[in-house]
Amino acid sequence: ESTRFYDFKVQTKRVTKLCNSKDIVTINGMFPGPVVYAQEDDRIIVKVTNKTPFNVTIHWHGVRQRLSCWYDGASTITQCPIQSGQSFTYNFSVVQQKGTFFWHAHVSWLRGTVYGAMIVYPKTGVPYPFKFPYQEHIIILGEYWMKDLQKIEYDTLASGGPPPIADAYTINGHPGPNYNCSTNDFHQVDVIPGKTYLLRLINAGLNTENFFAIADHKLTIVEADAEYTKPFTTDTVMIGPGQTLNVLVSADKPVGKYSMAAAPYKSGRFVLYQNVSAIAFFNYIGAPSNSLYTPAKLPKLDDKLVVKTVMDGLRSLNQVNVFREIDENLFITIGLNVQKCHSKTPKQNCQAQDGVLAASMNNISFVNPNISILEAYYKKIKGIYTEDFPDMPPKFYDFVNGAPNNITYDTQSLNGTKTKVLKYGSKVQLILQDTGIVNPENHPMHFHGHSFYVVGYGTGNYNPLIAQFNLVDPPYMNTIGVPVGGWAAIRFVADNPGVWYMHCHIDIHKSWGLGVVFIVHNGKGELESLPHPPPDLPQC
Ligand code: C2O
Repeated sequence: ESTRFYDFKVQTKRVTKLCNSKDIVTINGMFPGPVVYAQEDDRIIVKVTNKTPFNVTIHWHGVRQRLSCWYDGASTITQCPIQSGQSFTYNFSVVQQKGTFFWHAHVSWLRGTVYGAMIVYPKTGVPYPFKFPYQEHIIILGEYWMKDLQKIEYDTLASGGPPPIADAYTINGHPGPNYNCSTNDFHQVDVIPGKTYLLRLINAGLNTENFFAIADHKLTIVEADAEYTKPFTTDTVMIGPGQTLNVLVSADKPVGKYSMAAAPYKSGRFVLYQNVSAIAFFNYIGAPSNSLYTPAKLPKLDDKLVVKTVMDGLRSLNQVNVFREIDENLFITIGLNVQKCHSKTPKQNCQAQDGVLAASMNNISFVNPNISILEAYYKKIKGIYTEDFPDMPPKFYDFVNGAPNNITYDTQSLNGTKTKVLKYGSKVQLILQDTGIVNPENHPMHFHGHSFYVVGYGTGNYNPLIAQFNLVDPPYMNTIGVPVGGWAAIRFVADNPGVWYMHCHIDIHKSWGLGVVFIVHNGKGELESLPHPPPDLPQC
């Protein structure tokens, strides 16, 4: 193993996009930010210096942070933010992990511009389980906003309504020619005819799930969330915020210029979207430079079948035999609500007649505490969080079609900083059930500190009598798009002591409270017996 050092200066940078100039927060003035490279089991040391007026943390998305939860970077969960003028050094190993990851700011909506890829190669001499590609390319999907992101978040929460739509969807930070003033603002991958390429797809977008396709070319998925999968070939993939997919593409079509396109997946009635796709190019070397491009065909905006086909195609490469005995079985609703007021609503809006939009798990809207849960845990500070997150929803009802008789009770989520303690080593199953109280939507649920087997999913209300489970070769993921108006069952062993956030990776849903924190310890000091958090861990 070796140690990789990186220097991250958080700084603003003036950029011009969509006919507009503005300052955005970046790492080292780059957008997207620098790529972090490592090999399996390496130690990664990143000194983050905050030269902006804003609070910052960096999360290493998908890295399990084995025995190092204080470097997970989730603001107010495992650390307080790095304040203006301060620095903090993240120092962790990618223990038995390899593949495509990414890093991003994990405070307010700063992730909108503060993100980058993280690539962990297999150990020297260990090949990929597929034909070695000629080259690899990183393709990061994102969103771009002309307004200041913190202001957008603040205004959205203050309004109680939905957020404004992104001004552009982007590929590696570029909107491409479908947008104003963007004819030359595109990303291009130049390919040699006959060669095979590995594309490392990352969705770093804030609020948009994306379809992605390359004109006339098939995509063969070989890895999802940094775990190998059985090769699965498709025309289109759907990739939600927080997900990564590696796909092989062969440059086996007539020499020419082909578009790579990302467009929104409108999973529910109220999902806001722009009917414009971000465009990049898959360009054969030798194609005339002024040639017109072949446009990619994308599915209909709300094509659930494509989403299901891709999901059905994700299988772990090898047989895994998931445990059958379950120690902790939780049924958790996830969904949007309305409530009189959420924690970030200005007081005057709390009087609103119709209520404000909120989101919850088991009817609890997660409220970020004032000091980090990890710090409160170690220092035994009372009153920061409670351990009474419910194991099931307050009422069982028709989750998808609503509950006419209990509408008041069930639509109004409760605010709280509730955690769920999981015994170290316990075998856990979570049934995540989407609800349609306000509107059913696809929720990409992300878990810190662990990956989980996606053993089942389906549409409608979860019914244990008819649910089909795959315990043989389910994918091992850290973000699962729970089907709109449906459910997903995930299993994992709580074998990583620490404080771990689980939340919807659509930022507006997270801001509205769609999250929960799990604390993994054995009740006899398992977490306490870890080395304590570093002395320089930012405090509030
Ligand atoms: Cu990539 Cu908690 O998130």
